[in-house]
Amino acid sequence: MSEQRVTLTDEGSGKSVELPVISGTEGEPTLSIKAVPSTLGYFTYDPGFTATASCTSTITFIDGEKGILRYRGYPIEQLAGKSTFLEVAYLLLFGELPTTDEFDGFQSDITHHTMVHEKLNTFISGFHYDAHPMAMMAGVVGSLAAFYHDKMDMSDPEHRVQAAKRMIAKMPTIAAACYRHHMGRPVAYPNNELTYTENFLDMMFSVPAEKYIVDPVAAKAIDLLYILHADHEQNASTSTVRLVGSTGANPYACVSAGISALWGPAHGGANEKVLIMLDEIGDLSRVGKYIDKAKDKDDPFRLMGFGHRVYKNYDPRASIIRKAAHEVLENLGTSDPMMDLAMELERIALEDEYFVSKKLYPNVDFYSGIIYKALGIPVSMFTVMFAIARTVGWVSQWLEQEQTPTPIGRPRQVYAGPTEREYVPIESR
Ligand code: SDX
Repeated sequence: MSEQRVTLTDEGSGKSVELPVISGTEGEPTLSIKAVPSTLGYFTYDPGFTATASCTSTITFIDGEKGILRYRGYPIEQLAGKSTFLEVAYLLLFGELPTTDEFDGFQSDITHHTMVHEKLNTFISGFHYDAHPMAMMAGVVGSLAAFYHDKMDMSDPEHRVQAAKRMIAKMPTIAAACYRHHMGRPVAYPNNELTYTENFLDMMFSVPAEKYIVDPVAAKAIDLLYILHADHEQNASTSTVRLVGSTGANPYACVSAGISALWGPAHGGANEKVLIMLDEIGDLSRVGKYIDKAKDKDDPFRLMGFGHRVYKNYDPRASIIRKAAHEVLENLGTSDPMMDLAMELERIALEDEYFVSKKLYPNVDFYSGIIYKALGIPVSMFTVMFAIARTVGWVSQWLEQEQTPTPIGRPRQVYAGPTEREYVPIESR
């Protein structure tokens, strides 16, 4: 920690406190405000924690002004162009790119934990056929605790890493099983001959009646999307996982809470809402109307896939995904009018003073759905795809938190309710 300090003075009382500055290897310095309540008698107020660092982390770095995203120091553009999702998973979990032997061992561990207990498939069959897959995922992943709770010693680092690998391995299996339940198809079991992403496609789309050939274009595109969605500092769902983890809850409960947080349309649920929005806009002639709606303070409509709590520049992931969307459509020999509509919507928005002045740019969710749609993944599964990838970030951040003594998270409040008053019996009210 640097010796730099900032002095805070209460002009009313004349009291002052020196606050230590905590700086990392990159990014804005922070003030440690622990001493403020005891010396000045104030708590700090920061709804949404937009100005508050919740932890120290070595995993992911974002520079919102410059549109920079790095996993363990590696720029997302390099990982997207040269790595694979499982290799990125190893990097996020353990901090370094693996050697060949390390990767082979990791891949084997993941591959051999893709199966789920058969009772889990019974659990899934209990959902109504049209249950939203994110609701199913939150319930089913949380129920994994019921299968492993007595075998897991959270104080044992090996057990924690094992739980992290189990979740990474089982998320695609559970996701595909939820989709097949919705489709009325029998569960497809993992095939250990396939790679992580090929296996997911096989479990999603294979049918018992014929051999399913995984399209390499689809496998490559999904692997890329998984890399881009893997981690993103202390976003809402990751902060949820850390907060739940700070109570000592088991990792399956933490990830289940993360899934629920991700589902919100302001967060990971946006990718599903982007496609619904593009479908509602319908054609280029109606783009202007929706841009006006997004600008209208009295209209709750927001341009889904636009804006970001941190990026005040182009989300680097959106740039990569937009390029990939063109390539996937070209490689599949298809076109999608929604791609043209999305690009026109982006062009108009980026020329509009409202969006320019508020630094609203496309984010990771704006183009991803176009690729998922081209690959035959239903809109209701878009956020599930995000959850599969972000599980790596969630368990990496959970492991990091578990490695250092962490107090239970407990924000304070500004109380604005009634002051003390006497109870009045009902007959006197
Ligand atoms: C993800 O945190 C992460 O890292 C998240 C994520 C990850 O990888 O984990 O990147 C994934 O969640 C991406 C975001 C997906 N959500 C959406 O695409 C939904 C649409 N976007 C918005 O709901 C919104 O932009 C948020 C929620 C993402 C950010 O909200 P903020 O922090 O309120 O945005 P802001 O402070 O930058 O807003 C500045 C102004 C506000 O207006 P004023 O109060 O200044 O008048 O811009 C407005 C906002 O109302 N605004 C929008 C807008 N987003 C912000 N107006 C119209 N359309 C939008 N999309």
